[in-house]
Amino acid sequence: MIIASLSENLNIEKRISITPEIAKKYISMGFEIKLIVNYGKHLGFDDKEYLDLGVKLFSNEKEVVNKADIIVQLNLPGNDQTTLLQQNQTLIGVLNPYENKNKIDEMVKKNINIFSLELLPRITRAQSMDILSSQANLAGYKAVIESFATFEKAIPMMMTAAGTIPAAKVLVVGAGVAGLQAIATAKRMGAIVFATDVRMASKEQVESLGGKFLVVEGAENLETEGGYAKEASDDFKRKQEELLGETLKKIDIVICTALIPGKKAPVIIKDSMINNMMPGSVIYDLAAIQGGNTAFTEVDKIIEKNGVKIMGEKNILNKLPKSSSSLYAKNVFNFIVNLFDKEKKKININLEDEIIAKTIIK
Ligand code: NAI
Repeated sequence: MIIASLSENLNIEKRISITPEIAKKYISMGFEIKLIVNYGKHLGFDDKEYLDLGVKLFSNEKEVVNKADIIVQLNLPGNDQTTLLQQNQTLIGVLNPYENKNKIDEMVKKNINIFSLELLPRITRAQSMDILSSQANLAGYKAVIESFATFEKAIPMMMTAAGTIPAAKVLVVGAGVAGLQAIATAKRMGAIVFATDVRMASKEQVESLGGKFLVVEGAENLETEGGYAKEASDDFKRKQEELLGETLKKIDIVICTALIPGKKAPVIIKDSMINNMMPGSVIYDLAAIQGGNTAFTEVDKIIEKNGVKIMGEKNILNKLPKSSSSLYAKNVFNFIVNLFDKEKKKININLEDEIIAKTIIK
C-alpha cells in the first residue's frame, strides 16, 4: 500500500501529516511512503532524514499522488492538487466538510474516498486517533503561554523583601479538552484558576485540577449524549452573564474555549463585561476562528478595549508545529491501521465500524 502526502499551504498551515518518526512506522509495516521534496524542511526535517528511512521523494506533485492508495493531509488540498486525485484513491485530513461541501462533493462524485477526522466519534476505541483532543490539548496550553507573555504582571504570588506580588487570577471559559489543559498549565505556573462550562460533568474535572468551578445557579446540564455542549437557553445565558459580569471584575486573564460543534461560537464575554474589567487584563480567545467568545475578537489581531487586550489566532498550532505534527501524524497512523486489512493488504471500508462510518463523507 502506498501512502503519500503533499505540502500544505505554508502561509496558513505549518503542521505536516507524516513526520520521520511515523514514516519509519509505516515503512516497518510494509507500506511505501511518497512525499514531495522539502516536505518537512520548515520544521527542521531534511529530505535526507526521510530518504535514509526509505521514503521516496519527488519534485512533482503528480508523481507523488500517482498510484498512491492514501493521501494524508491536514487541510483540504488546493484545486491544483485535488485535480490530481483519481478514482478509488483515499484522502484523509481535517477537511472542514461544512465549509468545503461543494469541493468535497465533487471528489466524492469522482469516486474518491474522503475521510475527515474531525468527525471521529468520541469513543474509547477512537482515542488514539482523536485529532480534536490532541490538537485542542496543545492549543489550550499555548493559549495560556501566549496570554501570560502578553500580560504585564507576574503570574505566581511572590513574597519578597520589597513586598508581595499577588498571584494572577485566570478564568477559563469552557472546560473541554483545551480548557482543562489551560487550567492545568495556568495552575502549574502559580495562577489562581476559575472555570465555567455548560456541562456539569466538567465541574469535577475542573476541581480535580485545582480550579474553582463557577456554577450558573439553577442551570440545567447542557450536555448532549455525545458529551458535547448544547446551545444554552436565553435564561441560562442571562444567568451566566450576571455571574461572569461580577467575576470578571477581579480576573486578570481569560482563556475562552467555548464552542458548539457546527455552529458559530457563542458570544459569552459581552461588551459591558469588558468595560468592567481591570485595564491591563488579557483575553485569549481560542474560539476566534469560529467568530469568537467575546464581542470584539478579531482573528490574528490584538484588539484593545478599555485597556483590556483581546487576542485570538487563526491557527495557534502553527506556533508549536512540531509538537502538533507529531501528535497529528500519530493519530492519522492509528486511523490508517484501523482502516487497513492486514490479510488482504489493502484498505477495507467496513461501514459497520463506527469509526469508519462516522468519518467517511458520502
Ligand atoms: P468543544 O471544543 O466542542 O467545546 C469546548 C468547551 O466549551 C466544552 O466543554 C463545552 O461544553 C463548552 N461550552 C460550549 N458552550 C459554552 C457556553 N455557552 N458557556 C460555557 N461553556 C461552553 O469541546 P471538546 O473539548 O471537544 O470536548 C467535548 C466533549 O467530548 C467533552 O465532554 C469531552 O470530555 C469529550 N471527549 C471525549 C473523548 C473520548 O471519550 N474519547 C475524547 C475527548 C473529548
